[in-house]
Amino acid sequence: MNKFNALRVFSEGGDVFPRVTEIALDELAAGDVVFKTAYSSVNYKDALAATGAGKIIRKFPLTGGIDAAGTVVSSSDGRFKAGDEIICTSYDMGVAHDGGYSQYCRVPAGWVVPLPKTLSLFEAMALGTAGYTAALAIHLLEQNDMQPASGKVLVNGATGGVATLCIDMLSALGYQVTALTGKDGEHAFLKKIGAAEVLARKGLDMGSRPLEKALWSAAFDSVGGEQLGWLTRTMQPSGVIASFGNAGGIELNTTVLPFILRGVRLIGVDSGFTPMPLRRKVWQRLATDLKPRHLADIASTITMSDLPAYFEKMLKGETRGRAVVRIS
Ligand SMILES: NC(=O)c1ccc[n+]([C@@H]2O[C@H](COP(=O)([O-])OP(=O)(O)OC[C@H]3O[C@@H](n4cnc5c(N)ncnc54)[C@H](OP(=O)(O)O)[C@@H]3O)[C@@H](O)[C@H]2O)c1
Repeated sequence: MNKFNALRVFSEGGDVFPRVTEIALDELAAGDVVFKTAYSSVNYKDALAATGAGKIIRKFPLTGGIDAAGTVVSSSDGRFKAGDEIICTSYDMGVAHDGGYSQYCRVPAGWVVPLPKTLSLFEAMALGTAGYTAALAIHLLEQNDMQPASGKVLVNGATGGVATLCIDMLSALGYQVTALTGKDGEHAFLKKIGAAEVLARKGLDMGSRPLEKALWSAAFDSVGGEQLGWLTRTMQPSGVIASFGNAGGIELNTTVLPFILRGVRLIGVDSGFTPMPLRRKVWQRLATDLKPRHLADIASTITMSDLPAYFEKMLKGETRGRAVVRIS
């Protein structure tokens, strides 16, 4: 196999930066499965990693991209064979193992999920880690008694990748979704993908009492910081919060009162190292009952050379929905 293109992340003179460059297969991290990448995607973690805004990458240079979907070229593991269509997301992809922004990838077989029959490779990456995280969060809150009849569900960072997919999936399941966004120009878009109402971040009165008016039966938090503190104080009795994001900060200032007087539950969601049986189950749900209805509105397509500019926009909170990266 000749050399091929990859977006590699370098660390030089204290600067971390991405660059499209040529690489050979034997320069990639070791693995049992080699696949030709069709699509990758952009997650917040990719933007943090490739720009150095977050200390995500553990060895340089490294091919970026925590997500990839493509077709197996060769496999030394009996579970996969040439021609199989597969998804590989999370684990150490784009962190300590060469990731998905590459025309070919080589990964451990234990990280690979067969592409479900009712998803295309493009759809798998329109979902990617963002869709997987949204579905995992819904799955975990359902196990904690979340039900449409219990009341309104709040989704913040609403125009983001995880949040847009959450809104789409929740509305299809019959939930009344309130979307909280910093983008005044996107209220109509949020309603189109399933929000019943939209709250503007600007001017939102968060109050300061340990317990405020109880508003939400469930909440999906991309933002963390001040907004997560506010959510704990405004949950209904027995309300459940999925905490998976930190786009607005890593702090959490609250008191124990929401937990001991309202029975509020705070559920952590980590998409990175979900055990494979649960990972496959969630991907199967993404291909069936949780398959979003508005992927065409939520996802746009970019190329590898568009990535550096896209990362900068994402870190400024200026992107909307999901970017699928066309690789081959
Ligand atoms: N735990 C996990 O396994 C896991 C998996 C995937 C993602 N995540 C995390 O989840 C979060 C969302 O990821 P994503 O890929 O969906 O990112 P994204 O597309 O960039 O979405 C984040 C959204 O948050 C809002 N936002 C940005 N900066 C903000 C600020 N300073 N204050 C308040 N809101 C702000 C923006 O929405 P509006 O403009 O609409 O308000 C933005 O679109 C990230 O923190 C990411 O690291 C975690």
